Parts: sequence; structure tokens; C-alpha cells
Amino acid sequence: MALSVVILAAGQGTRMKSDTPKVLHPISGKPMLFHSIDAAQKVSDDITVVLHHQAERIQKAVEAVYEGIAFHLQDAVNYPGTGGAMRGISPRHERTLILNGDMPLITEDSLRLLAEGDADINMSVLQLDPPPAYGRVIIEDGRVQRIVEDKDCTPEEKAVTTLNAGIYCVSRHVIDAYIPRLNNDNAQREYYLTDIVEMAVTEGKTVHPVIVRAEEFLGVNSKLDLAHAEEMMQRRIREHWMREGVTMHLPETIYIESDVTFEGECTLENGVTLLGDTHIVHSHIKAHSVIEDATIIDSDAGPMARIRPQTTLEGTHVGNFVEVKKSTLTGVKAGHLSYIGDATIGEGSNIGAGVITCNYDGKAKYPTTIGRNVFVGSDSQLVAPVTLEDETIIAAGSTVTKDVPTGALAISRTPMKIVAGFFNKFFGKGQ
Ligand code: UD1
Ligand code: MG
Repeated sequence: MALSVVILAAGQGTRMKSDTPKVLHPISGKPMLFHSIDAAQKVSDDITVVLHHQAERIQKAVEAVYEGIAFHLQDAVNYPGTGGAMRGISPRHERTLILNGDMPLITEDSLRLLAEGDADINMSVLQLDPPPAYGRVIIEDGRVQRIVEDKDCTPEEKAVTTLNAGIYCVSRHVIDAYIPRLNNDNAQREYYLTDIVEMAVTEGKTVHPVIVRAEEFLGVNSKLDLAHAEEMMQRRIREHWMREGVTMHLPETIYIESDVTFEGECTLENGVTLLGDTHIVHSHIKAHSVIEDATIIDSDAGPMARIRPQTTLEGTHVGNFVEVKKSTLTGVKAGHLSYIGDATIGEGSNIGAGVITCNYDGKAKYPTTIGRNVFVGSDSQLVAPVTLEDETIIAAGSTVTKDVPTGALAISRTPMKIVAGFFNKFFGKGQ
């Protein structure tokens, strides 16, 4: 589809009460604006983001993730408002979809619906009663006449329940001819994009209202809206993955970020949190585990496991209160209460309760390499850098400071003493 997209993101977002620009607030792990860009990229190869407030910061954030996005700086001092935002933009294609950067729930399907046909203006329309403070769509004889902003409404207009959802698809004529002619003769002294509708009607052009689903067009203006948008996004993400075959216990307690993916048959128990670029294949994640930027294949983890970035678990069992960071565990059992960081652990190895990789000396991180069929006894500390070769045994309670060669036992313990009769000597008889 030869379609251009302009995303309006120059507004200040005062109601967020934040130093972070509104469109960079994350929803399900991704800045709000990125959700709009993702949807836009599915329908267009010509995307322009309009910026003003904290423009540089937003542009940098976008450029760190996306390629080929154009940026347009609005002259918001002289031309404030959504119409002012469109000044000086010349899209590449004949038709342009204009989106708000604060509508993260918009879907590709709705964008396609809005881009259909060849009306000069397709505009998104909502029916809500009682009407919130949106622009009212004035319809006479079944035809859209104009949009009146809430602050400019007469009492009769205020009662109108047909509302402007704020997304449009317009022809090149609208952009070239109407945008330069907009004025700021209104309550807010702003250049309203919405005035293009009346201009088109006056010139006998076609304005086509497209009824849309309110949920997708939720504008995020406050932290409360942000939380609502995230709830809806979470519901969508969970429902998508359940349809793809993921089993979820008490799904409303599970949090899954946008970039998480699943393959095969997976189960998530209640309270699981899956973050970042996590990939789960044919695995069972037990209650209240937190997993971030990790790959888990044919494994089970938790309850209450914490799997941190750059970890791969394959054919592995990780039990409760085990933390794994930047490690690769293949065919391993680590059942209880461990910290495994910067480690590689091979097939058939067992990590006992309370084993700690001492990977950090206060200045730098060091690796621990554990071979195949290694038995690491409970409560051992492995002081990195250190290697435990294949088929070695570490006795419980050892502090391992040297490499252990294949087939060996390593034991480091203070010899145990038995002092007979000491109790009575110390506490006195009859205690
Ligand atoms: C706008 C519509 C209103 C509609 C509502 C739906 C106008 C005049 N009104 O109102 O009819 O019901 O959306 O949500 O268009 N922006 C800029 N530059 C600016 C001002 C805004 O880029 O100078 C951007 C904002 O960042 C935001 C979008 O435009 O992404 C919408 O602006 P906002 O101020 O939220 O418009 P509304 O008052 O909500
Ligand atoms: Mg708004």
C-alpha cells in the first residue's frame, strides 16, 4: 500500500507530571511512541514523526531502535496545535495517515480500515455517551460537516455523542491546500487540524467517517491513562499467546512484555513476569518467577526463580530462589537457593543448594566454567575465574579457589572436632 504516515508527537504531555517526554513512557516494556511506529511500519514505508518538546531526546530514542524514520520539527511557538504540527510536511505518497503519538493501542487492522477507499478525508469516529472532552463531529443530513473542539462547543454541540477519535487518512490535496490555510481563530488560539474537515466540505470534497473501537483510540494523557493502556495491552498480549497455545494459570496475574516470544507448548503459572527479549520454548515457568532477556528451552524454572539477561537454560531444572545471570546451563539441575553468574555449566551437572559463584571481586566480573557430570555439593562457593572439569565432585561447604581436574574431588573444610561433654561444662549441669 503506497501510504505515508505522520505521527504527531510534539505535545508536551503536561498531565504526565514527568521529566520524561510523554511518548517515551513505556507500556509493556516499550515506549508508547514505539507501539505507534510498529503499527505504522506494517502499513507504510514513509513515516514522519513530528517533534518539538524534548525533540532531541525522543529522536535519539527512536533512532536507537528504528531505521528510516523521518523527523519534522514543529514551529510550536508560532504554530501551536495539531494543525501547526502538519505545517511544512510533504509526504511521499498520495495518501497520508495522520496518527497521534499517544495512542499506543492502535492496531494495524484499524490503520488499514482507515486507509481504505479514496475519500479526501477518512476520519476516525467514536460513539460515546456521555461524551468525553473530545472534538464533536457535527453531522447534518447524514453528512459530516465539521469538527468542533470541546472548548469551542455551544451547549447543544456539547451534547453530541459522535466524537473525533483523532486519526485521519487524507489526500495530498488536503495537505497541500488546507494545512497552509488553517487559522488559530478559536478558544485555544491553536491551529486545529480538525478544521480541514470543514474546508473539505465547503469545497465539495468527500469526508468519510470510519467508526472505530474506543479501546484502540484511548489517548494517554496521564499516569492513570498509562496504567489503563498497559492493562489493555497486557490483556492483548496474553490472549494472543494463549491462542498460540501457551497455558496460563490466573492469566490476569501474569505480566508479559511486548517482545517476549513463545514456541511449542509452554505453561506459565500465576504471578510470572516475563521481560524484554525473553524467548521460551516448550518450558514450564512456575509461580512468581521473573525472567528477563533470557532464552529457556525444554526447561522448568521456579517457583520464585529469577533468570536475568543473557542466560540460556536448555533441558535444565531451576528451582526456588535460584538466580541465574549471563550463564548457559545445558542439562543441569539447580534446585534450590543459588546464585549462578557468568557461568557455563554442562550436561548432567548438579548444583547443590546454596551454591554461589563468586563472580565479582569488586572491580571486574570473572567466569566460572563447569563441565559435564559435575556434582557441586551444597553451600559451596566457586571463586571465579575457576574451572571445574568434567566428572568432578565438590564436597559440600567447600570454597573452591583453584581449577579442579577431571575425575577429582575438591574439598576445602575446616576439620571437624568433637569435644565430649562440652555442653555441661559450658552451661553448667542441669541446664
Ligand atoms: C485532538 C483533536 C480532537 C480529538 C482528540 C482525540 C485537534 C484540534 N483536536 O484533541 O478533536 O477528539 O485529539 O484524542 O486536533 N500535538 C503536536 N503538536 C501540537 C499539539 C499536539 O504534535 O502543537 C500532538 C500531541 O503530541 C498528540 C496529538 O498531537 O500526540 C494530539 O494532541 P492533543 O493536544 O492531545 O489533542 P487533543 O486536545 O486531545
Ligand atoms: Mg489528546
